[in-house]
Amino acid sequence: MPDHFLPAGFSRVHGELHVESLPLKDLAERFGTPCYVYSKAAISASFGEFEEAFATLHPLICYAVKANGNLSILSLLARLGAGFDIVSGGELSRVLAAGGDPGKVVFSGVGKSAAEMAQALRAGVLCFNVESAAELERLSQVASALGLVAPVSLRVNPDVDPGTHPYIATGLKNSKFGVAYVDALALYQRAARLPGIRVTGIDCHIGSQITELPPFVAALEKILALVDALSNAGIPLHHLDLGGGVGIRYRDETPIVLKDYAREVASRLEGFGGRLLLEPGRRIIGNGGLLLTRVEYLKTSPEHRFAIVDAAMNDLIRPSLYEAWHEIVPVSTNTAPTAVMDVVGPVCETGDILGSARELAVAEGSLLAILSAGAYGASMGSNYNARPRPPEVLVDGNRAHLIRRRESIEDLYRAELPISDLL
Ligand code: LLP
Repeated sequence: MPDHFLPAGFSRVHGELHVESLPLKDLAERFGTPCYVYSKAAISASFGEFEEAFATLHPLICYAVKANGNLSILSLLARLGAGFDIVSGGELSRVLAAGGDPGKVVFSGVGKSAAEMAQALRAGVLCFNVESAAELERLSQVASALGLVAPVSLRVNPDVDPGTHPYIATGLKNSKFGVAYVDALALYQRAARLPGIRVTGIDCHIGSQITELPPFVAALEKILALVDALSNAGIPLHHLDLGGGVGIRYRDETPIVLKDYAREVASRLEGFGGRLLLEPGRRIIGNGGLLLTRVEYLKTSPEHRFAIVDAAMNDLIRPSLYEAWHEIVPVSTNTAPTAVMDVVGPVCETGDILGSARELAVAEGSLLAILSAGAYGASMGSNYNARPRPPEVLVDGNRAHLIRRRESIEDLYRAELPISDLL
């Protein structure tokens, strides 16, 4: 069966799926399965595509660490010049450990703790994307207590429907994210008077896996109206952060052409003297990675056929959580008969489905590749059912680098206390 589509960095050569120059079956041999495999060239190219499309605007591209926070991935992006969008002190520590520049970090998130604020202030982040009045007050207090001033954008909720899955839409007015549009001006005026705050920018992020431009344009126009109102109120801004959210192809989506997005933005930013910030995650790494898995068993009931594989919802939760589609293809073209089956994992949940009703030619022991798993794959992994997290391998040409080893069983209970301490 021909492949439906293979993302850049992956190809089929004489029936064998390759990542860059390496056959995936060799990687399965060397690192075992399940295993995340990334293409360095694909990730670098996606970052380059953003840079090139937006070149005339000289944006700061703050990669969203939550998409994939592996230290080697972060250091690759840092070396390419990326900044970072973080949502926790943990993500800040990752960025710093990977050699990222704190001066290129924006700190998003609705629930920043005082400790996280202090950590980010001491590190010298570029900006706090503040999401509520209460957070603004706390940030001013924390900064003042440290004798510092916090650079701030308000994350404004533009009440725009991104046309995406409801769980990943964040810019509608009933969402927990951001400051209500109607409250933003007054909150900026409050921010301008607070001792521990320096107003530097404005921010919005309307959702994820967005495949059309109009929601981005609508959000930008609303934000720019606010920028004007702020300027009239004597509050100039130095940057405008449009967030992330640009979608990718998982199945048959037609993703946004970045140059079109850039053109729409550039034509509207002409009168704005400040810098553009972007926070892409998925578009940088989503299609740059896959999850390699092996078929343990084929199981047939009168109603159904299953391929039970060694990866599961704890490794890749997107299909279970959002009914997300990930293309699943055989690693080696083979002569097994084709049949329609559900690809499921060993976890004890009915929802542990990686792909339902897939037409596949597989036998026991066959390797499968679950595509487009670079973003929100490993980073959303868990140890449910006491399953160690899989290794992660970054391929660069004909070299494979192990960038996270497979967890051991001891890793799973390393933080737990022996029962004798409790008795
Ligand atoms: N900036 C902020 C403030 C965000 O909350 C997010 C994602 C991003 C940037 C990056 O968005 P991206 O460019 O990757 O779409 N787990 C879900 C996606 C959740 C996205 C959360 N926020 C999934 O697997 O589809």
